[in-house]
Amino acid sequence: MELRLAEVFTSLRAAEEEAGAPLCAYVYDLAALRLHAANLVRSLPEGCELYYAIKANSELPILQTLASQVAGFEVSSGGELAWVREHFAEVPVIFSGPGKLDHELREAIEQDIDCLHAESLHELQRLADIAVRAGRTVPVSLRINLTLDGLAETSLMMGGKPTPFGIPAQQLPECLEWLRARPEIRLRGFHFHLLSHQLDAAAHLQLVSAYLAQTRLWCEAHDLAIDHVNVGGGIGVNYRQPDRQFDWPVFSAGLAALLSERGMPGVRVRFELGRYLTAACGYYAMQVIDIKHSHGKTFVVGRGGSHHFRTPYAQGHSHPFHVLPVDQWPYTFARPHASNQSVSVVGQLCTPKDLLAFDVPVESVRCNDVLVFPYAGAYAWHISHHDFLRHPHPAQWYLPVD
Ligand SMILES: Cc1ncc(COP(=O)(O)O)c(C=O)c1O
Repeated sequence: MELRLAEVFTSLRAAEEEAGAPLCAYVYDLAALRLHAANLVRSLPEGCELYYAIKANSELPILQTLASQVAGFEVSSGGELAWVREHFAEVPVIFSGPGKLDHELREAIEQDIDCLHAESLHELQRLADIAVRAGRTVPVSLRINLTLDGLAETSLMMGGKPTPFGIPAQQLPECLEWLRARPEIRLRGFHFHLLSHQLDAAAHLQLVSAYLAQTRLWCEAHDLAIDHVNVGGGIGVNYRQPDRQFDWPVFSAGLAALLSERGMPGVRVRFELGRYLTAACGYYAMQVIDIKHSHGKTFVVGRGGSHHFRTPYAQGHSHPFHVLPVDQWPYTFARPHASNQSVSVVGQLCTPKDLLAFDVPVESVRCNDVLVFPYAGAYAWHISHHDFLRHPHPAQWYLPVD
């Protein structure tokens, strides 16, 4: 997705002139999001479909923008399910996640979800009991934790090794045996999500290829008739080197070739992307309150911090940012500044962990300028500890859509 920094700057400038207090806001570019989603969907080969994993960002305007573009939403809790159904009665929903409660399983059945991703035999057993009591048949995919030779690890692994996620592949025969006597569960497919933060298109293609090959073997060995394979999410965003992003055109072309050579007739390939869909449509903006020189380092203190924007701390990176110069300076004394030097950007929290960027060379930054962090549209506001220190929440605004 193309970043539209100029439009974001214009909107921030207008807001800054009116604000009367240092700015702190999320700005979302819904037009860019819509275009990005449409491009992804259009470039996927025949037989593929794209769901959005709403855990990445479930703000209503984001969901409203995506609802008409994607095949449906992936939810991972009863709360997400209720939120989606409150606003989207008809959108297909798939339900993943470990530790589902009985009432969540019941609601999933009542809400007519498209497919539930079972995480363990115990979860299947509880689901079957609930389905029998409701007099319903439940469409299910089995989430499998597959170990693969030569699996290239990323910084966030959900499988391929001991983890709490999914059913270890060795336990699959036992699950399938058990399922044979349970007509209330309709096995629709397999679900894989071994990793997130994948930046390498060739490696991701290999992973999807391995999922499909394994699925084919299981279908043959156990005489299964399934209708889809969910290959998860996991495509990453390169925060450290923003000009080197995941090569989607290479991936989608490779996927087309893979499916034409080794696709399974009647079996669709389903994606449930989170980060890669929404990260680039969001920007976190903080106005500079103070600039301090301490023991040989320079700290830029912005309004807000990791309680709003936890992404850099969660991923352990220094987040890229841009400086929007603001010329107004309301005081009579000299304006603190840093020029042609490295700075670290911190927020207002009383902890050294409130660090958004570190040792970044800047040409110029002054008190009252606005720092704009791109790639803040996924796992940003929604993974942050909002109420720490009871600072006010940031504004959330949306660039006008033409
Ligand atoms: C089961 C499942 N599917 C999809 C996703 C979305 O992953 P990503 O945001 O990396 O695309 C996650 C993220 O944790 C997940 O756990």
